[in-house]
Amino acid sequence: MSAAITSVLQENRVFPPPRGFVEQANIAGMAQYQALCSKAQADHEGFWADLAKEHLLWHKPFSQTLDQSNKPFYRWFHDGELNVSYNCLDKHLGTATEHKTAIIFEADDGTVTELSYRELHDRVCRFANGLKSLGHGRGERAIIYMPMSIHAVVAMQACARLGITHSVVFGGFSSKSLHERIVDAGATLVIAADEQVRGGKHIPLKPAVDEAFAMGGCEAVRHVVVWRRTGGAIAFHPPRDVWWDDIEAGQSSTCEPVWVPAEHPLFILYTSGSTGKPKGVQHASGGYLLHAKLTMQWTFDIKASDVFWCTADVGWVTGHTYVAYGPLAVGATEIIFEGVPTYPDAARFWKMIERHRCTIFYTAPTAIRSLIKASETDEKVHPARSDLSSLRLLGSVGEPINPEAWMWYHRHVGGERCPIVDTFWQTETGGHMITPLPGATPLVPGSCTLPLPGIDAAIVDEAAHDMPHGQGGILVIKKPWPSMIRTIWGDPERFKKSYFPEELKGYYLAGDGAVRNKDTGYFTITGRIDDVLNVSGHRLGTMEVESALVAHPLVA
Ligand code: PRX
Repeated sequence: MSAAITSVLQENRVFPPPRGFVEQANIAGMAQYQALCSKAQADHEGFWADLAKEHLLWHKPFSQTLDQSNKPFYRWFHDGELNVSYNCLDKHLGTATEHKTAIIFEADDGTVTELSYRELHDRVCRFANGLKSLGHGRGERAIIYMPMSIHAVVAMQACARLGITHSVVFGGFSSKSLHERIVDAGATLVIAADEQVRGGKHIPLKPAVDEAFAMGGCEAVRHVVVWRRTGGAIAFHPPRDVWWDDIEAGQSSTCEPVWVPAEHPLFILYTSGSTGKPKGVQHASGGYLLHAKLTMQWTFDIKASDVFWCTADVGWVTGHTYVAYGPLAVGATEIIFEGVPTYPDAARFWKMIERHRCTIFYTAPTAIRSLIKASETDEKVHPARSDLSSLRLLGSVGEPINPEAWMWYHRHVGGERCPIVDTFWQTETGGHMITPLPGATPLVPGSCTLPLPGIDAAIVDEAAHDMPHGQGGILVIKKPWPSMIRTIWGDPERFKKSYFPEELKGYYLAGDGAVRNKDTGYFTITGRIDDVLNVSGHRLGTMEVESALVAHPLVA
């Protein structure tokens, strides 16, 4: 067992939720948390059905909550119809939220653009109408290869509006990864920027799309829509290539949403598996959106007055759930940042929190650790130099946070007054699974504490027997939940084998080891049990590392 894990297991500092926080919290106190858990335990389906009716706008109500006729291919709310973009945008029109700021965008060079819910709605509609004018629509797949931008969110929301399943490819990925995803998803549309700007440098994106096409097999793609981010020189191949501005020009700012069944695939997001090619994790519309919205309210305790900032790129699941969908579903104001935390210097995050009066800040332990290091060598970038008094809640995601980093985050960023939610979840789970609730759960540095209501997490041995608290084992989720992965795109057998292996008797296998504290029952994640490495909060298969190494001319 690594030293970091041993120290977490012996951690005895406890931070109860501050009283002021509890008084205003969406879930206030452990009794309220436990009441929700008991309700879910007594009637799992009824619990989720009530929430789905209360939190989502349905075009056609569902009559069956959970269809288990073809396990493990669960279907939630399947005969209901809705539209995700309608639930994120139209729903706010005509309410107090209509003219509220939806997005505060800060570019790499510091330029700030703000957009209201009305303006975002109109832009999504115009772009969706542009895609429609090219003949794209429901049932197709679009690859989105964009920098962090308002445009990236508009592209995702426009796809959702039209029933086009999107697959976002992280802008840092190579043309080879892009090619693999275009082909595997069977994409008919690619939406890309000419270049991206990070840390003052221009990095080409559209040329990587052309390289991917040159590898062959992308013939199904009818259009590449290009957003001119920098105006850098790129090759342009009409009629396949079209400019974003051209297809959007003159379009109407209303676009009837395409009502889809709740199980309609909202997106595919590729993630590393232990063997072979990346897995196209497919999510459904209704269940996914429900969990995105609920966790904004439960975990992030979101309020109308909050300024929410999740620093994740939309190329990762965190940027899907807590940038593109969750914050909009609850009508929050959110910050979107194009650049990197170290440019122009390592105080960028703190300066941005100060500038935009950010109240909830959500980032990865790797970022925190690198900013700790930077502030140790350069006092000028220490968070103490910025006014962080607007913050009321901090979050962490993507990898275990070591107690030392937790304590620094708590003291120097949170001013010892902000709870920290250490959220454990995965691409496959769609949203948070095991996490503190900031107005209820006493915090222990390094522990993601307890499962959310309705999430039946447990630790078992290889034959699916429950492990006693204090003994490590395999993390599983015993019952299906609405935002769970539906399948691996194009490979249902691999889905079954990877996540529902026979030995585990129908439990969902997370792929992580974990242990529960003897006294509190709190979970600590001890790391992957498969061949997947977690590097800076990003999953890498050892197969991928191996293929990258052998691709080098000096490696035999
Ligand atoms: O190993 C766990 C780790 O990240 C994996 C999921 O990676 P990915 O699908 O890329 O999603 C990352 C963002 C949700 C998990 O299997 N992980 C994620 N959050 C935590 C974590 N490990 C410990 N503590 C966390 N809070």
